[in-house]
Amino acid sequence: MNKLYNDRPIGVFDSGIGGLTVVKRLFSVLPNEHIVYFGDTARVPYGSKSNSTVIEYSIQDTNFLLHKNVKLVVVACNTASSIALPELQRKFNIPVIGVIFPGAEMAVDETKNMKIGVIGTRATITNQAYSKVIKKINNKIEVVEKACPLFVPLAEEGWTHHRATYEIAKEYLKELTSHRIDTLVLGCTHYPILADVIQEVMGNKVTLIDSGIATAEVVKSEIHKRGLETRHKNHGNLDVFVSDIPTKFQEVAELFLGKKINKPIKVDLEEMIS
Ligand code: DGL
Repeated sequence: MNKLYNDRPIGVFDSGIGGLTVVKRLFSVLPNEHIVYFGDTARVPYGSKSNSTVIEYSIQDTNFLLHKNVKLVVVACNTASSIALPELQRKFNIPVIGVIFPGAEMAVDETKNMKIGVIGTRATITNQAYSKVIKKINNKIEVVEKACPLFVPLAEEGWTHHRATYEIAKEYLKELTSHRIDTLVLGCTHYPILADVIQEVMGNKVTLIDSGIATAEVVKSEIHKRGLETRHKNHGNLDVFVSDIPTKFQEVAELFLGKKINKPIKVDLEEMIS
């Protein structure tokens, strides 16, 4: 049988700029794919909103990407993946992949002492998104979860190695260190930016799981399985759409993506949701 191809872009959405950490991981395993990114910067954060609002916004974000003719949608936002994924998968006719399942699976594969920690936004932790999936895979695993809401502004401030970040991390993570976990899921788009500090606080015996890395692998195999690979070589461009252009956009976006970024295009939210 002839190999199947699909040159349409991959769509990625997040509550804001943070999802660019996932885009970085996607490009490292799928360097030729064209990615269309939507960051809902006018309505960020999702992590402190109600479930019904997160579902409503996630449907609108996915609809926006569908209008850009994407072949597959990646929900880079952990909060949206925790709350809205089943609804998106039910409602839309293309593959929709979230970050929770891949991250949870990678953590289960990694743990030796069967004690996994999960950190994320209040919404992700309250919904026990990761622990439900981890327990489903292996119910003997102990899961300790902790919301770390201050990590989001610290990452956006670029305080990746700041003393204050270290002190806050120590406070948030003490519960996890006392449980002697050996694996810690970074269950929020922003946390990989603070990985050095988190690793320092947790000690080098704890393995950090970047859900973005795990998700990129799942997207790659899904694309392969479904015959959705692009034929382009050395293509790999990124179009960024946002619902607002925050001050310091360029600086924060480049910190998260790890390279230069083209100017974002501002979308009119009223028009988008009408
Ligand atoms: N993108 C969100 C997440 O991964 C963090 C920021 C927010 O609260 O919207 O959960």
